[in-house]
Amino acid sequence: MDVKIAPSILGADFGNLERDIKKVEECRVEMLHIDVMDGNFVPNIAFGPDQIKMLRGKTDLFFDVHLMIQNPDLLIPRFAEAGADMIVVHQEATVHLHRTLKLIQSFGVKAGVSLTPATSLETLRYVLDEVDMVLLMTVNPGYGGQSFIPACYDKIRDLKKMIAHRPIDIQVDGGINLETAKKAVAAGANVLVAGSFTFKGDVAENIRNLRETARI
Ligand code: DX5
Ligand code: ZN
Repeated sequence: MDVKIAPSILGADFGNLERDIKKVEECRVEMLHIDVMDGNFVPNIAFGPDQIKMLRGKTDLFFDVHLMIQNPDLLIPRFAEAGADMIVVHQEATVHLHRTLKLIQSFGVKAGVSLTPATSLETLRYVLDEVDMVLLMTVNPGYGGQSFIPACYDKIRDLKKMIAHRPIDIQVDGGINLETAKKAVAAGANVLVAGSFTFKGDVAENIRNLRETARI
């Protein structure tokens, strides 16, 4: 199975974003994971549409935009216009999830939905036809550098069964390193977000090692 690698620029050097993005681009990663935080849904603030638009001018990488914001409907048009290729919203942050997914699609952008570790997969059962990717948070969202929560391996396995033969990607985000990546892929994940693991030390070597360990 081919696993997709999605470096999270939250782990990059914010003073040298263009340089760090070039590094992962040279490694031919499948997408760039961009975390958006509002200081409300999560206790941290990161990246707005104007910054994403600026980065859009620097790279052709697929932009996977992870919205950790309350009421995402208000800002989805801005993120679509900024150049997002996929917009991922949190089930916990929107009341009318189906409407929100339809809104994303109305801009010709791929739609994803994310769950924090405590939220049940059942909340997604009736929107699966509208989803290109499910992002399972494997830490509590808000910060890079946290440890993978082991209960999430079962959740990945359960999601894999639930989506059966649908063409839906399973992305994992939080605490991904060589050990957790291997187990997450064995459980059924096929898109690995990695922030601190990617950008600490030699980026090309880290990505090579991640690809190697994820090959099953
Ligand atoms: C956390 C973010 C992650 C973060 C992961 O809320 O959603 O994308 O960058 O960082 P690491 O890989 O360091 O756990
Ligand atoms: Zn993320």
